[in-house]
Amino acid sequence: AAQRAFASVADAAALEEARVQFTGAKAGKLKAAQQGLGKVDKADKPAAGKKFNEVKTAVEAALEAAQERLAGSAKTQAREAFDPTLPGRPLRLGHLHPVTQTIADMKDIMGRLGFTAVEGPEIEDEWHNFEALNIPAIHPARDPLDNFYLATASAAAGQRTAGAVQEKPLLLRSQTSTVQIRVMETTPPPVRIISLGRVYRPDTADATHYPMFHQIEGLLVDRGVTMADLKSVLRLFCQSYFGKDEVHIRFRPSFFPFTEPSVEVDMNWQGGWMEMGGAGMVDPNVLRAVGYDPEEVTGFAFGLGVERVCMRQHGITDIRALYENDVRFLSQF
Ligand code: PHE
Repeated sequence: AAQRAFASVADAAALEEARVQFTGAKAGKLKAAQQGLGKVDKADKPAAGKKFNEVKTAVEAALEAAQERLAGSAKTQAREAFDPTLPGRPLRLGHLHPVTQTIADMKDIMGRLGFTAVEGPEIEDEWHNFEALNIPAIHPARDPLDNFYLATASAAAGQRTAGAVQEKPLLLRSQTSTVQIRVMETTPPPVRIISLGRVYRPDTADATHYPMFHQIEGLLVDRGVTMADLKSVLRLFCQSYFGKDEVHIRFRPSFFPFTEPSVEVDMNWQGGWMEMGGAGMVDPNVLRAVGYDPEEVTGFAFGLGVERVCMRQHGITDIRALYENDVRFLSQF
């Protein structure tokens, strides 16, 4: 009876009920049988004891078998509960920072226009950041308060005025125009490059300023390059970037020591002009500084703010949001 009962239980509750009924320590049937052994005749005792043990072993084996059977079917049920038709849980993938994406797009577009991307150091000397760019020592742009001079370098600058050992002052570059010089110093014309990277200025951070930002610098030097080429390249660049034909470029007269004439570049897209940066024809003094002959070649250069373009594209209104590293913000792009 016990074997049949154990073999037929279907769940844990029924098994427990059967276990109590047959092997329970208080009122189980085995217990009762064991107590019954005491009343058996002396002569029959060995045989009865043996029989009892056999029954006990058999009942316990049946109990164990039933326990195993139920555990096994619990596993099968878990396996059957897996529904392969349910949609999968999406993996959370990271992605590139919006400014990095903008930089990649810009490189791609300018690459198609034939410009090679080059890089330059973020720690620069005064020759590349100022001197060769026609920015003389007395120029206000070189004011230590407007630049991040390195501490060791400014100490050395102090020594120099005191007539001691001369050491080159170093600073975090304030513009990517430094790369123009580095490229022209090492390659003969024609030159057709862009340089994208970080620049540093001691500005107080607000919605439109940040002490570190990115510029895209473009430089083209060849025979017979004109302002018209500059405007065409900038227009094609902006139209490709925003993917629209109705992007317009406007030049406003300006001044930079390293370009003559110089302009501010504005862009119009979906109404309203936006300032993009500066540009102009490379100043003959700059061409001379790198050993080019200004009678032979001319060139244009431009330097645009990467964050501005990125913010305009995504409708971001505060540059600081780009550098707070708030994943909830960044994951939108
Ligand atoms: N270097 C200038 C700036 O940082 C921009 C510029 C680049 C202007 C090249 C003219 C030519 O504002």
